[in-house]
Amino acid sequence: MSEADEQPGTAASGPVDAEQPARRRGTTVHGEAANAGHRVLAPDDAEVEAYLEVALDAAAPARPDFDRPGGAVARGEPSASEPDTVVVLDFGSQLAQLIARRVRELHVYSELLPHDIPYAELERRRPRAIILSGGPNSVYDADAPKPDPAIWNGRIPVLGICYGAQLMAHELGGDVLPTDRREYGPATVTLTGDDRLFAGLERDQPVWMSHGDSITRLPAGFSATAQTPSTPFAGLADPARGLYGIQFHPEVVHTPHGREVLGNFVLGIAGARATWTPANFVESTVNEIRSRVDAHAHETGGNGKVICALSGGVDSAVAAALVHRAVGDRLTCVYVDHGLMRKKESELLRVTFEQNLGMDLVMVDARERFLARLAGVTDPEEKRRIIGDAFIRVFEEEAAKIGRIDFLTQGTLYPDVIESTAPETKAAQKIKTHHNVGGLPDDLRFTLIEPLRYLFKDEVRLVGLELGLPEAMVFRQPFPGPGLAIRIIGEVTAERLDTLREADWIVIDEIKAAGLYRTLWQSFAILTPLRSVGVMGDGRTYANVCAIRAVTSEDGMTADWAKLPYDVLGRISSRIVNEVPGVNRVVYDISSKPPATIEWE
Ligand code: XMP
Repeated sequence: MSEADEQPGTAASGPVDAEQPARRRGTTVHGEAANAGHRVLAPDDAEVEAYLEVALDAAAPARPDFDRPGGAVARGEPSASEPDTVVVLDFGSQLAQLIARRVRELHVYSELLPHDIPYAELERRRPRAIILSGGPNSVYDADAPKPDPAIWNGRIPVLGICYGAQLMAHELGGDVLPTDRREYGPATVTLTGDDRLFAGLERDQPVWMSHGDSITRLPAGFSATAQTPSTPFAGLADPARGLYGIQFHPEVVHTPHGREVLGNFVLGIAGARATWTPANFVESTVNEIRSRVDAHAHETGGNGKVICALSGGVDSAVAAALVHRAVGDRLTCVYVDHGLMRKKESELLRVTFEQNLGMDLVMVDARERFLARLAGVTDPEEKRRIIGDAFIRVFEEEAAKIGRIDFLTQGTLYPDVIESTAPETKAAQKIKTHHNVGGLPDDLRFTLIEPLRYLFKDEVRLVGLELGLPEAMVFRQPFPGPGLAIRIIGEVTAERLDTLREADWIVIDEIKAAGLYRTLWQSFAILTPLRSVGVMGDGRTYANVCAIRAVTSEDGMTADWAKLPYDVLGRISSRIVNEVPGVNRVVYDISSKPPATIEWE
């Protein structure tokens, strides 16, 4: 995981106040709809998969009725493959997802649920523990978000973090008040009690604080376990009832021993088994997919045909590899080579899936077709529309050749599932409004297989490695669906694509050689329409200006330009000018997002 990933704030703005109101789901940092315009929320694969979904133009796909690994909730009884679970209740902190991810890093499955979920629903999920996130409210506000009071009944251990700790104190009879000595940022807590939560930790701990209110009186049954100079109750506990609270944030990197605190709670106090591993996930998911496809084939007399669009990105690659392990040649993967990929990318895909995994891969060479449709087009949105439309047409043709399709595989990830209530993917809904789709007969109703719907992105990569996918595929930086077309400013031609591909290859090569590839959200070259004068040998040149863009980011919504070392920039520049015909000048883009975007078009 990249350092940027672990920051409580974004790379662009530095650490932010953890208790600021969380961004409304599906909105950008500016509060705009996240999918406004052309930008998609999950940049890696969502778009190409959605084109296939649109091309199939069937009724909204039926989602399976279970909502956790092992499928146990729907059946209401424990299954052998069901992992121990920790529920994180979301009180509106930006860090709620991070808490869930940290628990997963302890190899315990965690799920993020709304703060007001009824206790009966919680119990049905059989959590080993409950964690209450922070949040922007004050517990004494009239509209403060509250959990179902039954969570305090002592049957399931509860850890309250920040607002969650204040809730615990307030709801159980203590006092929480606004303080004049607010604590934001680094602080030192002194562990005062002999608390299992802090087992193995030194008495003084550097932590990250972010609160305006403080607990000023403990409820009956609780004792103080930690304090800072300005907060007498930075930790509280009632071990007999399994209730623990901490004012600081154990989930952020700025609390160096936060992982141990979470581990003490989840593995120690709650006794959860650390069985959430890539190997176990692969085994149970493969079994689950196989039995679903078999059952469907049995019921319908079909042969359980599954289709999947490969985009070159990690999500669709891992989803396809999982499904392939489950159903073998009943899976057909379609990869459209639109000629807008980076150097060697299509080849890596072919070798991995066809040769190494022995998969039935339909590789459509549509390079000429895309180029012909893009000829003379310079407007960025028009390029996107044309590429989307061409994708849909190609998928329609290929799907028609495959015949009856029972399942569509998509690489939907857990953050998409938390954010989306719509049956179709958001990208598909958007695309449908832009494209006049022909499609297959209306009565075709396929089912979605979304084998990654319980995973965060870091976990997808680990599962990819577990399945034997190459690192170049598993750790690939996000790449937009329209590919290099939106990195060539102006008209896209075969020659300009070749120029950009060569320059881009050098950027990636040098970034990887410097060990920086995984620390960057994206790093790439842009071919500008500018030409400038240069000298080479004895002659004057008048050639293309190539730009380099490298950014750090947490989610692509905001980004900062990467402070690449000068020597790395220098090597990139001299290699491009020397090795790429037609380029005589290289510039570095030092704009953050906002106000610039990551892509130039
Ligand atoms: P921007 O340029 O909006 O990009 O800052 C944010 C993220 O989205 C990716 N991106 C796209 N992905 N189709 C995609 O699939 C697109 O049309 C598209 N435009 C931008 C971009 O690479 C970055 O990761």
